[in-house]
Amino acid sequence: MGKGLIILLVVGMRLLVCAEGKRAFFVFGDSLVDSGNNDFLATTARADAPPYGIDFPTRKPTGRFSNGLNIPDLISEQLGLDPTLPYLSPLLTGDKLLVGANFASAGIGILNDTGFQFLSIIHIYKQLKLFQHYQERLSAHVGEEGARQLVNEALILITLGGNDFVNNYYLVPFSARSRQFSLPDYVTYLISEYRQVLRRVYDLGGRRVLVTGTGPMGCVPAELAMKSRNGDCDVELQRAASLYNPQLVDMIKTLNHDIGADVFVAANAYQMHMDFITHPQAYGFVTSKIACCGQGPYNGIGLCTPISNLCPNRDLYAFWDPFHPSEKANRIIVHQILTGSTHYMHPFNLTTIMALDSTT
Ligand SMILES: *[C@@H]1O[C@H](CO)[C@@H](O)[C@H](O)[C@H]1NC(C)=O
Ligand SMILES: *[C@@H]1O[C@H](CO)[C@@H](O)[C@H](O)[C@H]1NC(C)=O
Repeated sequence: MGKGLIILLVVGMRLLVCAEGKRAFFVFGDSLVDSGNNDFLATTARADAPPYGIDFPTRKPTGRFSNGLNIPDLISEQLGLDPTLPYLSPLLTGDKLLVGANFASAGIGILNDTGFQFLSIIHIYKQLKLFQHYQERLSAHVGEEGARQLVNEALILITLGGNDFVNNYYLVPFSARSRQFSLPDYVTYLISEYRQVLRRVYDLGGRRVLVTGTGPMGCVPAELAMKSRNGDCDVELQRAASLYNPQLVDMIKTLNHDIGADVFVAANAYQMHMDFITHPQAYGFVTSKIACCGQGPYNGIGLCTPISNLCPNRDLYAFWDPFHPSEKANRIIVHQILTGSTHYMHPFNLTTIMALDSTT
């Protein structure tokens, strides 16, 4: 075979993938981005009963921890992509594989022991193992080269870390991890473990990966209900976030430097949340302290269930349930991911990523 023909073939295959038009999207992480995997598992961490999904197009619960769309849905929507299916969905076959997949599982963290109380959830290394299985299935569908290219050109989102504090270190007083580590040492340990997770994403072919830091964990209605007397954010969890997030950005910078490319992009989820938590009215919310669905002080005790208090207009609440933002708040977050300055997105926002990647 002549060299020209080989080049033609390679160009042809590239066109073929591009002709499908759309970029694949993969999602890893916890309940902030789980689109329904836990509904297929024997776990207590699930959002499979009303009023979850009350504002979803079908008005039914889907396993998303939202009244409507979640962050991955909104990224897909804004980029004109089809929504990614949960990896465990039986519908994820054939050409649907080309859209990408969502591997996230509510309750997980960076550490293998985070979320153990939720029984069978998909810990991050298992999510990455399933990503490998996905790639084998994709190869069977479009060939090895096509599969490799689709993954290299895909957008990836990874959202985890909050549970390593809320559902591990601070889960109970004198938790095993809090007896083992001081908070600064725990953060250092988490960051070094997270680095290995991200390195694994790169080794599996990820070349554009959005990495979100933790939100202001001390300000969620659940923590206000348990720890706050006057509605102020819990100081200890806020300290954890303020130690963790800057070190995550530094780790991402050195990882990109070692790789020699801007593979990982840090999203400042903390600031994105603080904007509307500090000035809820400026964003059209009546409150950022009280959850729409829940019970007790701040509607922050226990879970959102069919018998919980439920607000009539979800768009007026920053928090949907004691831990998770409403669709409206998710839209504000995704807007910053797309167009935010370097204060929100480092080294650049998703609009810039899309422009860069369309010209290479
Ligand atoms: C977590 O589990 C994975 C896969 O089983 C393993 O490779 C990794 O070393 C574990 N991490 C720790 C800190 O034990
Ligand atoms: C995205 O980031 C770039 C570079 O930081 C910035 O110039 C631009 O204003 C941001 N927003 C959009 C929509 O690109």
